[in-house]
Amino acid sequence: MTKPGTFQLFGLLLLFVAPATALTQADKSGAKPCAECHAQALSQPFTDMGRALETVELCRVLIDHPMLTAMYGRYSYRIERTGDQSTYSVTDGTATITMPIRWALGASSAMGQTYILEKDGELYESRMSWYRELNALGPTLGGGNTLPANLQEAAGRLMSRDDKLRCFGCHATNAAQGKNLTLEKLVPGVQCSHCHEATEAHLAAISGNSGKPAVPAGLQSLHNMTAEQAANFCGRCHRTWAEVAIQGNFSVSNVRFQPYRLTGSKCYDPDDARIGCPACHDPHREVSAHPADYDAKCKACHGGGKAGAKNCRIAKKECVTCHMPKMELPGGHYKFSDHRIRIVKANEPYPG
Ligand code: HEC
Ligand code: HEC
Ligand code: HEC
Ligand code: HEC
Ligand code: HEC
Ligand code: HEC
Ligand code: HEC
Repeated sequence: MTKPGTFQLFGLLLLFVAPATALTQADKSGAKPCAECHAQALSQPFTDMGRALETVELCRVLIDHPMLTAMYGRYSYRIERTGDQSTYSVTDGTATITMPIRWALGASSAMGQTYILEKDGELYESRMSWYRELNALGPTLGGGNTLPANLQEAAGRLMSRDDKLRCFGCHATNAAQGKNLTLEKLVPGVQCSHCHEATEAHLAAISGNSGKPAVPAGLQSLHNMTAEQAANFCGRCHRTWAEVAIQGNFSVSNVRFQPYRLTGSKCYDPDDARIGCPACHDPHREVSAHPADYDAKCKACHGGGKAGAKNCRIAKKECVTCHMPKMELPGGHYKFSDHRIRIVKANEPYPG
């Protein structure tokens, strides 16, 4: 979804030009100490997943928009930049609430972002979010369909401890230890150690003096996951089949839950890695938006690779353009690719 820009180049410079000082906690959880030996560390930090949470200082959207305004009902909003910080305020014409933004959730390069605000030691989820498709603020998804009842509601939603554990747990690294919130140790984005466990033990072993094997037991390559294992592994954040099924949401708003959608496709075989998430997505690289890049993935089964997987009578390339249609997430201002791979029929109801 992203084109490399100055931000990435700046990041790369930081990665390599930074003097070899003692590693901070952030460094240890991130890609920096891995870059010497693993090429994954050169690309993964710059993916949308690697930047799923951004600091206000480095947030591209806030830097590029020193003033954002919006109206919602009788409330008017303003996000204003001063130096390397941004404040968020809302007024009903009489009273005003102003709060500093602490973090942005969602990469600047991706579909949109919601702001985490702070007041009197509490955190709030902003009622207004920025959407790339609009290049403007709009109501936050999940904020409800009714207009805010009062100024406080118009500003944002108070985050419970559970909300914080969940939001930061999926969008950042080291934000929680078990059920304890550890925001002081938070490292922005989904970093190596979020997916690869035991990385600290690996580093210690490599540096030579631990007497333990260099690849400790917890550090598996994650290479040999079946489709089902991958769907559950990635589903920790992208939601598992079971979570969505239990919620009972069978409307088009479940199109963003790829593990659920994929499981409903005739292509899906829980034991076959060729239809697992990593078969089509290298989690260390930006997602390809070129349909032709996926043809070989489909043809790994269709056209002789797997017994029973038929050939298409209509076309021989760019399969995903017809069989993984892009569908608008209501209120999300973004089209997701439906992972329920199928023959799409005109005017069919959404296969929930
Ligand atoms: C000094 C070099 C070095 C550094 C630094 C290093 N690794 Fe490794 N890593 C290795 C070696 C060597 C292996 C074993 C490779 C093999 O068996 O093919 C390995 C194995 C791995 C594996 C398992 C791969 C597999 O296929 O079994 C993962 C995952 C991994 N490293 C992640 C990391 C992460 C994350 C970091 C940073 C926190 C890191 N490594 C830092 C050298 C390094
Ligand atoms: C720790 C939580 C977490 C895990 C585990 C996780 N993801 Fe993500 N992923 C996210 C978040 C959060 C985003 C949204 C990033 C954004 O738009 O800001 C995302 C975005 C993505 C995207 C689209 C954006 C992009 O260009 O990177 C893909 C593709 C993706 N993830 C694939 C995977 C796959 C494949 C796996 C399993 C190997 C996986 N994810 C595991 C949290 C996670
Ligand atoms: C279970 C893991 C998980 C939790 C909890 C979670 N997110 Fe996400 N978030 C994701 C993933 C995965 C994506 C990318 C795909 C998508 O949009 O569904 C994402 C995408 C987003 C985006 C990009 C735009 C959009 O709406 O798709 C925003 C903004 C966002 N999340 C904010 C939040 C906020 C705020 C919270 C807490 C109230 C939160 N998320 C909780 C996993 C999570
Ligand atoms: C979103 C989860 C996720 C994140 C974040 C992540 N990885 Fe991985 N990594 C995986 C998965 C899944 C595989 C197995 C891929 C496959 O089967 O093709 C993997 C494989 C690897 C391997 C083994 C590759 C091989 O060919 O054997 C290395 C080394 C590695 N990752 C290093 C890193 C480093 C370094 C970082 C941070 C810069 C990182 N990973 C971040 C999920 C992740
Ligand atoms: C057979 C190939 C294939 C498999 C398997 C697959 N994807 Fe995708 N995925 C795609 C394509 C194609 C896109 C659209 C890329 C684009 O146009 O930007 C995509 C896009 C995405 C996106 C970006 C948001 C969206 O929906 O457009 C996320 C997140 C994602 N996939 C996650 C996953 C996860 C998690 C799994 C495993 C459950 C998975 N994918 C399995 C082909 C695949
Ligand atoms: C793991 C093997 C595998 C992979 C990878 C795979 N498929 Fe399939 N697919 C199957 C099987 C098996 C069937 C059921 C038999 C048939 O209809 O061909 C199927 C069915 C289909 C159907 C018919 C579905 C219906 O509604 O009747 C379409 C269309 C399709 N696949 C397209 C694709 C596309 C496009 C890709 C790549 C994005 C893909 N497949 C990847 C195995 C696979
Ligand atoms: C231009 C749109 C389009 C493209 C591109 C396309 N298909 Fe299809 N495909 C269709 C339509 C429409 C049908 C249903 C009509 C039919 O059965 O002949 C279909 C049927 C299928 C079927 C079911 C076949 C059967 O006999 O039941 C499979 C499997 C399939 N496609 C796979 C693929 C694969 C793999 C690719 C890429 C190599 C691909 N398609 C590219 C439109 C497309």
